[in-house]
Amino acid sequence: MLFPEYVIYGLCYFRHILPLNYSGLMSYAMYTPDFDTLEFLAHHWQKQPLVIKGAFAHFQDPIAPDELAGLACEEEVASRIVLTKKDNWEIIQGPIEDYSPFGDANWQLLVQAVNHWYPDVEPLVSAFRFIPDWRFDDLMVSYATPGGGVGPHIDNYDVFLLQGEGRRRWKVGAKGQYSPRGGDTHTALIDDFEPILDVVLEAGDMLYIPPGFPHRGETLETALSYSIGFRAPSQQELFSSIADHLIDTNGGNKRFTSNQEPASPSLLSIEQQEGMLALVSEILSQPEHYQTVLGQTLSQNRFELDLAEQEDNYTLEELLEAVEDGASIQRIGGLKVIRLEGDKLVRLFINGEIYDFNEANASNEELMLLADQFSFEGEQALSLCQHEAIGQYFVWLLNSGYAYLA
Ligand code: SIN
Ligand code: CO
Repeated sequence: MLFPEYVIYGLCYFRHILPLNYSGLMSYAMYTPDFDTLEFLAHHWQKQPLVIKGAFAHFQDPIAPDELAGLACEEEVASRIVLTKKDNWEIIQGPIEDYSPFGDANWQLLVQAVNHWYPDVEPLVSAFRFIPDWRFDDLMVSYATPGGGVGPHIDNYDVFLLQGEGRRRWKVGAKGQYSPRGGDTHTALIDDFEPILDVVLEAGDMLYIPPGFPHRGETLETALSYSIGFRAPSQQELFSSIADHLIDTNGGNKRFTSNQEPASPSLLSIEQQEGMLALVSEILSQPEHYQTVLGQTLSQNRFELDLAEQEDNYTLEELLEAVEDGASIQRIGGLKVIRLEGDKLVRLFINGEIYDFNEANASNEELMLLADQFSFEGEQALSLCQHEAIGQYFVWLLNSGYAYLA
C-alpha cells in the first residue's frame, strides 16, 4: 500500500517540487460540513449549482503538494497535467516525474482517486457520506499554479469543488447544449459560455455543480483543490451489466413464442414486438436478477483499488489474537460495501462480489454496521469477531486484500 511514509521516502518523492504556502496539519484532521446537508439535499442536490462559502470552517488540507506529486509519479495512480495554452488546453497523461518543464504558471496537476492511495484523506471523504456510498466516485485532488485550469467543460456527474490553500475563480453556465470547442468532437472541452455564476473560492469554500452544467476554473493564487465526485449509472451501463450477469449465470434463456403470425411474410406485428419487450421486462422484474445486478454493479469502483496484499492468509484464530492485542480492522480506501433494501437474500455486495450471510444468523443491524463502518476497533471489533460468521467475514475481507490490520 502507498502509505504516506512510502510516498515521502520512496523513489517517487520530489522534495519542494510543488511550492505552496501549505498550512495543513499532518495530524488526522476532522471535517464537519458547516452547512445544512438536509436542506442541501432537498433544494440543490441534482438540481442547481450552489456556492457554499465557509462550507468547512478552518479547513486544513489533508495532503501536502509534495505528497500529491509523490502519488502522481506512481504508475497505478491516474494523474495528468493540463497546460493552459493560448485559447487551448493540452493534456499530458501521468505518471509525472519531472515538473521542471512546466514553470511557475499556467499548469495544473490532477490526481484521481486519491482516497484509494492516501488514507489521511478518509475523514474528508467521510464528511460527504450524507450522500450514499454507491453514488460516490472518487476524490480528485488538484494542484494548480496561477492561470492553471482544465478549460470550459461539462461533467456527467455531480461534483463538489472544495477549495484548499490558494484561490480559484469559477464560472458556471446554464444547463444546455454546448458545441465542442473548435468543432473538435474528440475534445471534452466546449466553447465559452455565458456564466450564471462567477465566484472566487478560498480555503473552505465549496461549489456544487450538478451534471450537465458547463463550468471552468481559473487559478488566481497557487492552489490545492478537492473534487468530490458522484456518479449514477446510465441506461447503457445498466443494460450492459444485466447482459453480463445473464451471460455469467447462463440465465435469460427463455425464448419468445407466439401462436398467431402476421398475414404478410415481411411483417413483425405490434403484438410480437410487445411480446419480445415483455420477455425483457420479465427479467427486469425478477429480484434474483435485478437485485444481484444492482448490488454487484453499484459496489464496483471505476478506479483501481490499492489492495492490501497479505504475506499469508489469516485464520480466524490469528485475527482474534491480533484484535485482542489491540489491532483494528481497516477497510481499504475506496472499497464499497453495499446493502439493498428489501433484499431477498442476506448478503453484502463488496466490490462487485457477493458475501453471503444466508446461513449465518447475523442480524440486519450487524450487517448495517459491517457495511457502514470503515474501521472496527477495541471492544466492538472483539465482540464482532467472536461472532463466528462475522469473524469469518473479516478474515475473508483481509485475505481478499479489502482490509488490513492497523
Ligand atoms: C478542476 O479542478 O479544475 C477540475 C475539476 C472539475 O472541473 O470538475
Ligand atoms: Co468539471
